[in-house]
Order: sequence, then C-alpha cells, then structure tokens
Amino acid sequence: MTTSEEPVGERSFADLGKILVIIPTYNEIENLPRITARVRAAVPEAHVLIADDNSPDGTGRLADELAAEDPNLQVMHRAGKEGLGAAYLAGFRWGLDRGYDVLVEMDADGSHQPEELPRLLTGLETGADLVLGSRWVTGGRVVNWPKSREVLSRGGSMYSRLALGVQLRDITGGYRAFRRATLEGLGMDEVASQGYCFQVDLAWRAVRKGYRVVEVPITFVERELGASKMSRSIVLEALGRVTVWGVRSRLGRS
Ligand code: GDD
Ligand code: MN
Repeated sequence: MTTSEEPVGERSFADLGKILVIIPTYNEIENLPRITARVRAAVPEAHVLIADDNSPDGTGRLADELAAEDPNLQVMHRAGKEGLGAAYLAGFRWGLDRGYDVLVEMDADGSHQPEELPRLLTGLETGADLVLGSRWVTGGRVVNWPKSREVLSRGGSMYSRLALGVQLRDITGGYRAFRRATLEGLGMDEVASQGYCFQVDLAWRAVRKGYRVVEVPITFVERELGASKMSRSIVLEALGRVTVWGVRSRLGRS
C-alpha cells in the first residue's frame, strides 16, 4: 500500500555514487518480496542488502531466491537474532567494504515507504551528511499506529532530546540515508547498542561530531503483515543507555 502523494519520479541520483539500501529482517517472509520490489521500482539504481538473522520463518531462504534473480540484491545471513543495531553495523561494514557511497536504513515491513526514498536522497544531494526520515516534523505523519506506540515514540524522542540536549524531532526513527564519510567518521566500532536505541546512538554521534544532520518529513505506515519486534527489553535498553549518555555528557566526559 502506498499513501505517499509523492510522484514516483524517474530521476537519477548518479551524482551520489553507488547507493545501498540495507534492510534488516527477522521473520518478514510476507513483507520481503513486496519491499524489495518497491525499492527496485522507486530507485532502480539502488542496490539492496537483506541482513537476515536466520529467521525461523524462512525469510533468509526467500531472500536467496530473490537474489538469484536480481544481481543487485544480496543477502547477508547472520547466525541468530542479535538485534537491529548489530544487523545494521554488519550491513554498513559490508557496504563500506564494497565501495558504496550512500548507505540507507529501511525497515522491511513497509513502514518506510520506498517511494519516499528520493526525498531522503535529495537531502544528501543538497548538502546533508545524514538525512533522517522524520515523523515529527511538519509534513511528517504516522498512519495506523496504535496510540500506545505514538506515545512511546514521541516520548522517547522527547526524553532523548532533553537528556542529550539534541534538537532533532525524530531521533529514534529508522529511515535514514548516510554518506559513506559520515559512517566512517562516527566510530562505529564503539557502538554497543543492540536494539532500537542504536538509532539514537548513531544520530547523537553524528550531531556530536559536527555532521550536518537534516530531517525530512515521511509518512510512516504501520505494518499490515507480520509482527513488530519491539519489546520491553528494547525499551529498557534505550532508556538505560540514553540516560547514561546524557549524564556522561553533562559531566563532560562523553
Ligand atoms: N536482522 C534483524 N535482527 N532484523 C531485525 C531485528 C533483529 O534482531 N529486530 C528487528 N528487525 C527488523 C524487522 O524485521 C524490521 O524489518 C525492522 O527491523 C524494524 O522492526 P519492527 O519490529 O517493525 O520495528 P517497529 O515498527 O516496532 O519500530 C520502528 O520504530 C522504531 C522506533 O521509532 C522502526 O522504524 C525502528 O527502526 C525504530 O527505531
Ligand atoms: Mn515496523
């Protein structure tokens, strides 16, 4: 389903160099073929890397089948479920090793609409080092989210803003485009965040290192198929880490 009003433009992002869209998956077998087809249609020049944590539902096997038919789609098979952060870090290293110039984070479940990817890439073209797809800036919105998730996301963003002293509206979101140099400069080797606080971790590092971080509005569409992997332990990890980072930075030893 597409709710974006954005026309599917036939424009080229050749100036940006080689683009890799990294899609982490854990039990996304119904969503996988849909999301990959949409990415390939929306930005044909982008390559796709599926980072699968040995999904019990066979997502990894289906990914191999898709890869066999599409030379620009590849699969990273990981041993087991280690969290979103670990999957992205491995995916980033894979892409940097292979010379990609732009690395994109995108959920597999359709919440991050591939049709809006041109807007993120345009942000990089116009000078950003990191572009965040943002639900909480003017023009951004959320479709079909239960009130409880909206409260959690807005609350998490607000708490992070206050604790870390960062101005970003949607610091926990996971639809992002990085320039290669930004990832190289972030100190990825020191990132310990496993769950969704990985997103806060990377955005905050980028801000602290002085990179130009720009938010562009997105329409986040809640998944129709499969289940969210959000859990209490993911929330607690985020709360704990953000609090520690905030206290440390106030004590001046970040
Ligand atoms: N490989 C791997 N390993 N993938 C994972 C894991 C994991 O341990 N956990 C989640 N994923 C994948 C899912 O399969 C999906 O493609 C994507 O990561 C996002 O997971 P969801 O479970 O759908 O996340 P959400 O919709 O609850 O949360 C969204 O909002 C969060 C808060 O703003 C996402 O956009 C998150 O990135 C975001 O932090
Ligand atoms: Mn989701």
